[in-house]
Amino acid sequence: MTETHDHTDHDPDAPDYFEEPGWDARYSGSDKIWSGRPNPQLVAEVSALTPGTAMDLGCGEGGDVIWLAQQGWTVTGADFSAAGLARAAEHAEEAGVADRTDWWRVDARTFEAAGRQFDLVTTHFLHPGSPMVDVVRRLTEAVAPGGHLLVVGHAPSEVFAQLSADQHRAMWHAEDLLPALPDGFEPLVVEERPRVVERDGKTVEIGDATLLVRRVGTGG
Ligand SMILES: C[S@@+](CC[C@H](N)C(=O)[O-])C[C@H]1O[C@@H](n2cnc3c(N)ncnc32)[C@H](O)[C@@H]1O
Repeated sequence: MTETHDHTDHDPDAPDYFEEPGWDARYSGSDKIWSGRPNPQLVAEVSALTPGTAMDLGCGEGGDVIWLAQQGWTVTGADFSAAGLARAAEHAEEAGVADRTDWWRVDARTFEAAGRQFDLVTTHFLHPGSPMVDVVRRLTEAVAPGGHLLVVGHAPSEVFAQLSADQHRAMWHAEDLLPALPDGFEPLVVEERPRVVERDGKTVEIGDATLLVRRVGTGG
């Protein structure tokens, strides 16, 4: 099946790609950037979990937050873009799930859980301007005992050959993230999953680098 929920079709060579003002500008335009549909690895991995509390870091316009809320989760959408969060909150209101959502403006590069823990922490295509392994190390603090952490991003591929060196550095393989896991975190999925997308008018296969881990303990 051709999946059109591609996260690579927006001026990725812009010099401000990794910074908040660039994302604010993108989310302040008149058009939606993303499809609003949930990401496929989220649906694949979370559908079988018992709903509880969740955080989606890099939530953008809120597609994954809204889907999670519709499945019964109470969800915190987190992003460093105030414009993205405002748009996500509007979409949650329109979808009738505002009462199951809240919003947290936070930079993944300096993320601190500040005592908050969630049964599910998820992040899709964040690609921050710092090593993802460092972000994942920070995110583990926010996972409640018995909870799950799902991290999905673009695996390096020839398909992205024309992107900038910075963009290439932002891509990773799932196994690259394993050193971030403290004791007590059990890897469940460490994979690259193929996905077919439309890119520059062509149908191409890309890989979703997918890491799912569970924090040992009860609850979640
Ligand atoms: C490619 S979009 C993905 C949006 C959404 N997760 C999805 O899959 O449709 C990346 C998102 O991460 C956010 N982001 C990028 N770097 C960030 C950082 N350092 N801290 C917090 N959010 C960041 C951007 O504002 C943007 O909303």
